Amino acid sequence: MKLVLILGCLVTLGLAQDAINPRRFPSSLRIGVANAAPQIEGGWDADGKGETIWDHFAHTFPERIVDRSTPDIACDSYNKYKEDVALVKAMGLDHYRLSIAWSRVLPTGYTDNVNQAGVQYYKNLFKELKDNNIIPMVTLYHWDLPQPLQDQMGGWLNESIVNIFADYTKFCWETFGDDANWWITINEPKQVCQAGYGSGVFAPGIVSDGILDYVCTKNVLLAHAKAWHIYNDLFRKTNKGQVGMVIDSSWYEPGSESDEDKESAERAMQFDIGIYGNPLFNGDWPAVVKERVAARSKLEGFSESRLPILTDFEIDYIKGTSDFLGLNHYSTLLINHTAEAPIGRPSFESDKSVQYWHRPEWTQGSADWFFDVPWGLRKFLSWLKKTFNNPEIVITENGFSDTSGTLEDDKRITYLEGHVSACLDAIYEDNVNLTGYTVWSIMDDWEWTGGYTSFLGMYKVDFNDPDRPRIKRKSADYFTGVMKKRCLVDEDKCVD
Ligand code: BGC
Repeated sequence: MKLVLILGCLVTLGLAQDAINPRRFPSSLRIGVANAAPQIEGGWDADGKGETIWDHFAHTFPERIVDRSTPDIACDSYNKYKEDVALVKAMGLDHYRLSIAWSRVLPTGYTDNVNQAGVQYYKNLFKELKDNNIIPMVTLYHWDLPQPLQDQMGGWLNESIVNIFADYTKFCWETFGDDANWWITINEPKQVCQAGYGSGVFAPGIVSDGILDYVCTKNVLLAHAKAWHIYNDLFRKTNKGQVGMVIDSSWYEPGSESDEDKESAERAMQFDIGIYGNPLFNGDWPAVVKERVAARSKLEGFSESRLPILTDFEIDYIKGTSDFLGLNHYSTLLINHTAEAPIGRPSFESDKSVQYWHRPEWTQGSADWFFDVPWGLRKFLSWLKKTFNNPEIVITENGFSDTSGTLEDDKRITYLEGHVSACLDAIYEDNVNLTGYTVWSIMDDWEWTGGYTSFLGMYKVDFNDPDRPRIKRKSADYFTGVMKKRCLVDEDKCVD
């Protein structure tokens, strides 16, 4: 009992090294790698592709990208996709998460103007995956809104986007329904809304913190739900697949045993994950989000809550529309209670109202919020199981970013080993229904406002070489070995 207590305290303090789980991966767990069209394809205006909000953002505001770079060429996967598929094949991976660039297939965003060359690009990519026996996991929206939809109608702030997005997804299912059956509607809506239309640090760069970001949140949820209903009504029978949304968050661990810190950590989870997960799995916004935004809005002088109401019809329409919960997870932070922010200018962070910190001994990645804390992932998975009634969970992104780009990437190996081990703990010890784990990423890419300065690839890409060679890092060999054994420890120690 004493030992359990001491271990418990050490884990809470972030001092314990979790043992690596020796179990063989269950056959129900697919393992793969992820990336996204705007970060790897390049060919930004090739063969009829339309401009996206990220093309526009990087071209118009170079100072907002740390190295003033653009996604114009990126990894040149538009031309080198066969090479990429060969890398995935050589690593023995089960699946490849890719995204379809909306504006490559529908340059204006609308279905009346189809770019056949763009359609052919994805047809070729799907064929290459099929020929190599690799399962495609397809994201339909990875932040790259066609620019005309932003210019003409305000993008995700206009509720017409619900129908326009749903039309696009229908087009994709009609066009690519024979090529794939594992679908993600929207990647990380929190970044789309809070970063794109709240803080404005991401494209399209609209600054309306705590106001229009919530409008975006509602539209994103309705757009996702409408897409899911279309799939369910028209395509599920023949496509026999799954459609889910991918939400992202760090794990927020209470910074102490105090009730206030525990409540603050839970509140942070509800603001970051619950704001999407609760409508999808339980129905309606999380109560704490509803209450806090309404109360602060009133004090600020708004006549109604800055958080739009979900009507009974909408609550019903959204609930139950994610066949699995896609999770992008990178880090863990500690959370303390903090004094209520003064009433003044609204903001999402003031609505959330927590203080973040981390243990100095945690290994840091490329950002001030990025730490290697595997036990955080295990706790997170249990929290999702409990909070959302045991959904099927697929980890759609997890990986380690550094700024050095070293080929001897031992920190990435330690990170991946710890996090996959945490997944095995969750599956075997905590009975979490986890069916997928996906590393971000197979190769370095254009990291949005981080440009080409933070690296997550198991292969390095030389962005100074016009040929964009892919160069193996130590982690690629490590992960190839893991896939061969489907186990994290030596074969003779692996437990079946
Ligand atoms: C995004 C990816 C990004 C990754 C690593 C996630 O938030 O979905 O597009 O590259 O984080 O920074």
